[in-house]
Amino acid sequence: MLTNTNTKIEIQPFSENVGRKIINTENASILEINKEEVINLFKSYGFLLFRGFETDVNTFAEFSNSLSNGFMDYTGGAINRRIINEDGTILTVNDFKDEMKLHGEMYYIKKPPQIVWFFCANPPLKDGETTICDGEQFFHELSNSMKDLLRRKKLKFPGRLKKEDWQNKYKTNDLNVVKEICESQGREVQINEDESIDFKFICSAIHKSRTEQKDVFINSLLQAKKVNPKSVCFDDDSEITDEIMSELNEIAEKITIEINWQKGDILMIDNTRIMHGRRAFYDDQRDIYVRLCFPAFPF
Ligand SMILES: [Fe+2]
Repeated sequence: MLTNTNTKIEIQPFSENVGRKIINTENASILEINKEEVINLFKSYGFLLFRGFETDVNTFAEFSNSLSNGFMDYTGGAINRRIINEDGTILTVNDFKDEMKLHGEMYYIKKPPQIVWFFCANPPLKDGETTICDGEQFFHELSNSMKDLLRRKKLKFPGRLKKEDWQNKYKTNDLNVVKEICESQGREVQINEDESIDFKFICSAIHKSRTEQKDVFINSLLQAKKVNPKSVCFDDDSEITDEIMSELNEIAEKITIEINWQKGDILMIDNTRIMHGRRAFYDDQRDIYVRLCFPAFPF
């Protein structure tokens, strides 16, 4: 039982190994459900969808506050996000409507968030599903030669930001502040004469799981390649070929789980194991909020 004896909550699987839906069948409050049980389910299954609870943005903030800390304000993040709450820790996801390939959130900095929360303020009329996949299963599906390749070579994300771009992105006019933020995020920075900056970030495409027992394919390669094929290469500057990308995109599509949003849904994702993305959408209804943070429990 996830809550007190007066209320009932149903737990349904997304697949055998990952994802559980926690469905309110009576009038349970999401703030009263048993946190220990939630934590255990989260650690076992990687992502939890809370559905059927009476929620608004304040409930979302309170519930996520009760399980996480170290909320990030997305400084240096890859896309534009609209800020929802005063301290800048609740943000929108809808900068644009295109498909987003599966990715680990902010896997282009040294210490990405370990938990990603989503709140569905309003679902799209159609399409726009959030996509999810298990990075452990992704690794398992790789061919042996691909596993070998990704163990030998790391990913390199080079980039250049013009002056107005870094001013915008890092919310400062001070180059030293930008350099400090970038370096604290594990990016090497070079400042050019015209005050543009060149930076690079190098990381493995595969990571050890939280318990160190499994390998996890989690990174931002698929999305980076989709947005700009030149935005990522291997760390020896060799190309990540179309053939490599076909194998990876085929696996991604095969093991993708879709979340069809309902108003008020809350989604909690383990960003050390689970990749997420979204299908394209075409209407102006979709309003999904996100929080990036760390667990407030032993993890
Ligand atoms: Fe994301």
